[in-house]
Amino acid sequence: MINAESTYLQQMAELGELQSVTCTENIVTVDGAKLLPKGASINRKVIERLLHHKLLKPIDFTTQIEDAVDHNTLITLGRSLMERTSEMGSMVRMMRSKGFVEQSCKRIHLELPIQNKLTVAQKLRPELLEHSLRVTLAITILGEELGLPEKELEILATAGLLHDIGELHLGVGDLPLDQNLDLDHWQQVRSHPLVGATILKQFPAYTPHVVRAVQEHHERLDGSGYPQGLKAIRISRAGRLLAFTELAIGALRKYSLRQLSTIIKTNLDALDPQPVSVFLQALTLYENSGKSQAAEIHANKVTSLFELVSKLILAAEKIVQDRTPEQKTSEPCLLDSELIKFNQAMSRAGFDIHQVTASMAMIGEDQESLSELEGLLKETLFQLRHMLLEMQRRFSETHSDSPDRAAIQQWIKEAEQNLNTAAQLFA
Ligand SMILES: [Fe+2]
Ligand SMILES: [Fe+2]
Repeated sequence: MINAESTYLQQMAELGELQSVTCTENIVTVDGAKLLPKGASINRKVIERLLHHKLLKPIDFTTQIEDAVDHNTLITLGRSLMERTSEMGSMVRMMRSKGFVEQSCKRIHLELPIQNKLTVAQKLRPELLEHSLRVTLAITILGEELGLPEKELEILATAGLLHDIGELHLGVGDLPLDQNLDLDHWQQVRSHPLVGATILKQFPAYTPHVVRAVQEHHERLDGSGYPQGLKAIRISRAGRLLAFTELAIGALRKYSLRQLSTIIKTNLDALDPQPVSVFLQALTLYENSGKSQAAEIHANKVTSLFELVSKLILAAEKIVQDRTPEQKTSEPCLLDSELIKFNQAMSRAGFDIHQVTASMAMIGEDQESLSELEGLLKETLFQLRHMLLEMQRRFSETHSDSPDRAAIQQWIKEAEQNLNTAAQLFA
């Protein structure tokens, strides 16, 4: 595991090459040794000096970045996001006027050290800042539609913008479909909600509601989320709203609104019903407004993908069937519970993973069904990848040489290859 602080320090040094980053006081180690004087610049040249010591204060508390991200930066970026030609952009334009961006951004509480972090994101991970701001805008609409009081809207807007701040200390984002599975990477991804919450806890102005929502933004109601696998009401309301919004906004990077609605409808056990119903109502209005546009989908590609996913699931079902009841209790395996979920999601949408040819024949060239199926298959692949990584993580913590585990590990190996082939279908 890499050191989160050194990752962040290195990013500060990179930023220091682009714009001025100055020490606002002497930078000293925990032992009192002075590493840099007040007024010095942080950049690649001086960073080595800082990397090998434990600093008395986090770097954001002792430095100032020129032109740091503030409310005005966020408002300008938010307006441009709203104007962009995307389904999300036109849905937001349908629901709110431009003044909404300013009002939402002003609800965000910004501390100076946090502005530093947002500036690192703006310059080195612009997609992360955009994603975070999209989440803020969407969760504000959600909160307003639910009639939540101003105080709660402030919590939601702030947690929305800061939910992935932990990623900056880890230097990783979610593993893209076309990248090989990597356990170390997954361990880091898994820890980003906790890292983010730990950062925010340093500031009394970020209330426990904000901190908790950030910590819980990848939890799911059915306990399938991370980092803690919390269930239902053990997740705070802000955490549940943030988890839904983050999922929806993240999904819209890869799915159309229609595909997203299918994925949501087939994963209802994992999601809070309140935001789900607000989203589905808004989607109906949007579709009736005639503004939605969909790209053409080719049946051949969907068939190949369906065959791959089906092969993976059938092989996993065979393993689950072969496990003895003793094995199931002595070594619970994610396969048992997750397979049920995948099958349920497919059959709720009217597709049968055991009958690829028959399902495809029924769909024919119908674009709506092809689009739904394509979205579901992509999402299944995405969830399968997470499941594989999570299984590897759990295996790495416990040891067993049962033949059962050997069979599962063999399946994981084959699944990895099939997932890579599937990723190429989308390249
Ligand atoms: Fe996120
Ligand atoms: Fe996240």
